[in-house]
Amino acid sequence: MTIEAEYAIEVEKLTKRYGDLLAVNDISFNVRKGEVFALLGPNGAGKTTTVEIIDTIRTPTSGKVRLLGMDVTKKKHDIVPRIGVLPQGFSSFDRITVRSTMQYYSRLFCCIDPDIDGLIELVNLKDKAEVQYKNLSGGLRQRLGIAIALVNDPEVVFLDEPTTGLDPRARREVWEVLLGLKKKGKTVFLTTHYMEEAELLADTVAIVSKGKIIATGSPVELIESNSNYLIVTLQSVDEKTLAVVRKMGFEPVSDPHENIRVRVEGTDDVRKILNGVEDAGASFLSLDVRKPNLEEVFLKLTGEALHEGPTGGMGAK
Ligand SMILES: Nc1ncnc2c1ncn2[C@@H]1O[C@H](COP(=O)(O)OP(=O)(O)O)[C@@H](O)[C@H]1O
Ligand SMILES: [Mg+2]
Repeated sequence: MTIEAEYAIEVEKLTKRYGDLLAVNDISFNVRKGEVFALLGPNGAGKTTTVEIIDTIRTPTSGKVRLLGMDVTKKKHDIVPRIGVLPQGFSSFDRITVRSTMQYYSRLFCCIDPDIDGLIELVNLKDKAEVQYKNLSGGLRQRLGIAIALVNDPEVVFLDEPTTGLDPRARREVWEVLLGLKKKGKTVFLTTHYMEEAELLADTVAIVSKGKIIATGSPVELIESNSNYLIVTLQSVDEKTLAVVRKMGFEPVSDPHENIRVRVEGTDDVRKILNGVEDAGASFLSLDVRKPNLEEVFLKLTGEALHEGPTGGMGAK
């Protein structure tokens, strides 16, 4: 009788050095079977190195990694048929259609008979089956990459930044596909620097920074345990409001859209602000009180933004 491992992935004191650079620094974590696990962190944090050690492509400097109960440095041949990989920056044959590409990759796993039409349907590429790779948009290319990663019906799927560089709509369409994988009970190991992605898809998130895991838990747990404050936004304020809130001892931040944002400790502070604004005869149109999101938690823990650009760099507003 074989004993089924409880965890799909077990990582113990994993370290990877490239010369003087400590890219992965003594990290440990487990991934349960059937869960979506996300490594969330900025560029250079060590995500790809970690994934590619777990999926047998790179070799660790030290530490132990077991995948489906097997040592990744010793059982590569037994592991590879049971996993699927979408590498970061995936690309495929330019002038080959979706269907032919899928047929080619399925031939690489020569012992099985994959349901190519089913996979094409799973990633919503039915209408594109006869389109060449070079004519697919970024989102469609990534969905083809996911279908390729599934061609051997793997138990564990590794997706390294599956939505980086996609526009919001294409990103959402990839999320739909990943939610489908989750429903099918696959173990999914995801890396991302989009907190919305981790928040929406992952059962467990490990926040990584500079080769270290600095927090692990469900998105809700991470937010609960790292956010002892609320964010209050007053919308469409008049000129007086900012000064009034500042005078009460808070540190409001204003934006160009006549909103001000304040970090407060609890609901008593919210009441204090509302009363103070009213007493001073200042005004605002609406009020929003919320807990910090995962990106703000990340910023608080690391002091660095997850990614640059219009949707990134929340700052400690
Ligand atoms: N094969 C390699 N040789 C040398 N340095 C590397 C190699 N791969 C990654 N690095 C470096 O290791 C660090 C972590 O990289 P990586 O694992 O790609 O992080 P991430 O995927 O989070 O962006 C970076 O500083 C990167 O430049
Ligand atoms: Mg990477």
